[in-house]
Amino acid sequence: MTRRVARRERKALRTACAAGLGPDVVHFVQHWSQVLARASPAPIKPVLSVLTADIASTISFHPTTMGLARLTGLWYALLSKPNPLFGIIDFYVVDPLTKVFERKWSVSSLTLREPMGSGNYGQVFEGLMMGKDGTRAVRRELTREEKKRRIVLKRVNLDPEGIRKTFLKSGTMARGAGESGQAEAYMCAKVMRSPLVKRRTPQYLGTFIADANDGGFNLGTQWLLWKYESDTTLAEACQGIVGNFPACLEGIMLGAKSSMKDEEARDARIIRRIMRRLLRAVSGLHSLGLVHRDIKPENLLVTVDGDIKVIDFGAAVDMGTGINFNPMTGMLDPRYSPPEELVLPMEWPRLPGVLLSSLAAPLAWTVGRPDLFDSYSCGVILMQLAVPQLRSAASARTFNTDIQRSDYDLDLWRRTRRPGAYDFDLLDRNGKAGWDLARKLLCKRNSLLRGRLSANQALRHPYFLRPSA
Ligand SMILES: Nc1ncnc2c1ncn2[C@@H]1O[C@H](COP(=O)(O)OP(=O)(O)OP(=O)(O)O)[C@@H](O)[C@H]1O
Ligand SMILES: [Mg+2]
Repeated sequence: MTRRVARRERKALRTACAAGLGPDVVHFVQHWSQVLARASPAPIKPVLSVLTADIASTISFHPTTMGLARLTGLWYALLSKPNPLFGIIDFYVVDPLTKVFERKWSVSSLTLREPMGSGNYGQVFEGLMMGKDGTRAVRRELTREEKKRRIVLKRVNLDPEGIRKTFLKSGTMARGAGESGQAEAYMCAKVMRSPLVKRRTPQYLGTFIADANDGGFNLGTQWLLWKYESDTTLAEACQGIVGNFPACLEGIMLGAKSSMKDEEARDARIIRRIMRRLLRAVSGLHSLGLVHRDIKPENLLVTVDGDIKVIDFGAAVDMGTGINFNPMTGMLDPRYSPPEELVLPMEWPRLPGVLLSSLAAPLAWTVGRPDLFDSYSCGVILMQLAVPQLRSAASARTFNTDIQRSDYDLDLWRRTRRPGAYDFDLLDRNGKAGWDLARKLLCKRNSLLRGRLSANQALRHPYFLRPSA
């Protein structure tokens, strides 16, 4: 085998010289591959020398079919996104292991306080982790110490069909509220396992089944727990509930000492910061193979540190394992949903099981670009933040109907508005950089399922790169 490899290396060197590449590059690769092979443990030595010979022959423009196949396989297994190897290990090893060490909750260690909202799948409450004194602050104002123990609890509605035992392992779409709750718990736990992405969402504390009828908990109900991370959603800020937007966020977004005289420049800077943090959060989720599918101001928390944190993973899809993915089903808030309505085209094959889905994930991601679903929602949010007349919930609905009528051509939508009806100043600053970003996020995809900026590409747009006032 080694003799064959050496022969191939010599041939690669000859071809490189013939191609005018110069022997330096190939020599360099060969030298270091030999050093690496020598330093590596005996069992992997032959594998390494074959692979390095493959690399040398490829960069000298003389690849062999088998060599190319081996390198492609290696790239697919180790470097493609969402990474299949990572997805399989994470699902079959890390996820079960973390469950073993997860903190176990019981109703006696928790206090249920006021309801905060109720969605299709459950009801959300403010709550408290039990302190040392063991008292339950159900109604009264919380002390400073108690506020540190504040949590958010989501009670998942139970459906008559129950939860399929194999629901997660079968890597399919959640059926009903109970399974959606389980999918949300899985997504949040997955985010918590990523040191780089976890700060883009509230800290997820775990899930439990109520073990008694006590303090508002009903025996057998399923709950999810997070740390309480903010009093304000972006929707509340945007609709002026916490003060005049965006000035109300000046302190937390630009720092307490900020005192910009030019109001328009200040507003533009606050909105740019919000958008940058939102896109970073969304791009972080995409780096894990997650598509959120419900990005909207109601599901974004604005923390006191000025972070934007994404909540509500009930509709999220894990492309890395296929969990909650079903091309036939859309789960949509029409105001923020892209025209294609699905993360992947309807005819996309549904693979059974996590293993197959993980193996096919990079292909699905590269060809189908499911992440562009969330980019559209970010585009709608940019329009809402920057155009004052679009900030209310009702005008977001009207905008959706109108942009649909304009066939998702934002320039056409603007040309057909009554003159003066909308104020685009914040988007038109700096050579219309904000407007350009909005139109590249809000457009339709082309026939290759591309044509819209991804969250990552949006972060490299001149809107963020030219941040002069
Ligand atoms: N970690 C958290 N810290 C502070 N507030 C939170 C947190 N998680 C959720 N909330 C609040 O609870 C509300 C509902 O949460 P979430 O969106 O997860 O539930 P939901 O089932 O979608 O309910 P809804 O349909 O009302 O949005 C949010 O809008 C937010 O105000
Ligand atoms: Mg929500």
